[in-house]
Amino acid sequence: MKILMISGSRNPEGSTARMADALLRGAEGAGATVERVFLPSLSIERCRQCDSAGWGTCRSEGSCVIVDDLAGLVQRMREADGIVFANPVYFGDLSESLRAFLDRLRRILRHESAREGLEGKPVVGICVAGGGGGGAPNCCLSLERVLSTCGFGVLDLVPVRRQNLDLKAEVLEATGRWLVGQIQSPPQ
Ligand SMILES: Cc1cc2nc3c(=O)[nH]c(=O)nc-3n(C[C@H](O)[C@H](O)[C@H](O)COP(=O)(O)O)c2cc1C
Repeated sequence: MKILMISGSRNPEGSTARMADALLRGAEGAGATVERVFLPSLSIERCRQCDSAGWGTCRSEGSCVIVDDLAGLVQRMREADGIVFANPVYFGDLSESLRAFLDRLRRILRHESAREGLEGKPVVGICVAGGGGGGAPNCCLSLERVLSTCGFGVLDLVPVRRQNLDLKAEVLEATGRWLVGQIQSPPQ
């Protein structure tokens, strides 16, 4: 079983990575293999809102005209059994890299062909407010909304603030174990 972690942080040693690592450690302990992707290190442009109505080949073909790392990452998501979205809280909301990625992902997922291998896939979100500590719950709401629009099976959203990193690391390690169990034995 493979768990793919997609991070909106560029720092593989920051607070967001530490929280994601805690979840992945739990998942590995339960038998999963894990992969990590840091979105700012990929080339993922923002949506061009192609035609006058604001749509493009996303809706008609389930693919995007922009040639960058989107399609490759979507394929990696199809090959994973579960996905973890880890996001550093910026202005109480999603980071720019995760927003740009999810903006385009939810568009191509309007088309049936793109949904294959992704629809209902179990996902967990983590939002880390590593500055003053505010905004993580609001960020979880934003993430939950867009992940639901994409058609994922949103299992949990975990808000974290700088002041409770140690506590949430324990929660996330347990969440990683739990995620593997949910994938192995989905609730009826
Ligand atoms: C543009 C920007 C906006 C930010 N807004 C918030 C915020 O609303 N609340 C907060 O606690 N931290 C805020 N931070 C701090 C980030 O949440 C913190 O840097 C991040 O969680 C840790 O980053 P890392 O995991 O990528 O190292 C902001 C940081 C940046 C760069």
